[in-house]
Amino acid sequence: MERLSTIADWRAYCAHQRERGRRVGLVPTMGALHEGHLSLVERARDNGDVVVLSSFVNPRQFSDDADLARYPRTPEVDEGLAEGAGVSALVRPELAEMWPDFPSPTLTTVSVARLGDLLEGAGRPGHFDGVASVVTKLLTVTGPCRAYFGQKDYQQLVVVRRLVRDLAFDVEVVGCPTRRDETGLALSSRNVRLSADGRQRATALSRALRLARESSGPPSERRALMDEVMRVAGVQVAYAEVVDAETLTPLSDEQRVVGRALVAGFVERVRLIDNAEIDLRERGVTCC
Ligand code: PAF
Repeated sequence: MERLSTIADWRAYCAHQRERGRRVGLVPTMGALHEGHLSLVERARDNGDVVVLSSFVNPRQFSDDADLARYPRTPEVDEGLAEGAGVSALVRPELAEMWPDFPSPTLTTVSVARLGDLLEGAGRPGHFDGVASVVTKLLTVTGPCRAYFGQKDYQQLVVVRRLVRDLAFDVEVVGCPTRRDETGLALSSRNVRLSADGRQRATALSRALRLARESSGPPSERRALMDEVMRVAGVQVAYAEVVDAETLTPLSDEQRVVGRALVAGFVERVRLIDNAEIDLRERGVTCC
């Protein structure tokens, strides 16, 4: 496994792979690797890509300094996991390499209007500008590639798809299924900060989604159901929404489409998110 840290080496490595006729598969991460990240690597390898895994804790997507400071960092473990999973190049750029002006504001920002302002964006102002800006840079340096993102960060996936389309990147975005533990909890680097009791309460997010999927009610009922399930379990709810899968706008009770249910909340000050497809085409008739 190659270990790269400069933009010049990273760009040259990817260009060299393409010259050899290989397809580059980029797996962007913020480190603290877990099975979810490794499943993205596996998918890229199954596609025959040369896997480049970037690991960079991007300060521009954290609106809260304390959250950034608390973000888990496990570089030695990550290295072993990446190598074991068959990553070809592990890229760990320094902060000064990615954002030379930091902490002064970087003058150029990529902003995906509206899609980045809803849901997670509403509770974390500037978060998706930080994500869109860093992803633009990762894709620019990597060059033509397939880029793998987890569906757990569903809104991020929608934002990235949109920026790739709008800015005409020569990139195929591949959305991969959420990996879960045996309790249904979506795998996340943040889960390590939960106590045993916190983990137990956090399972309310996936339970709320499952019950919302099983319900035959309209979106308003399913929102209320998810909200209640999480509150009863002791989750401080940020949102429980049923939205259009592409525009992320809330669905009305009349819309009979395949949408997306998204939930977010805090357990022990850890922000957790999860989501699931929700089919509203066949459902019970609500009376009067
Ligand atoms: O999903 C993440 O880990 C990050 O948001 C990403 C895509 C690597 C950008 O920093």
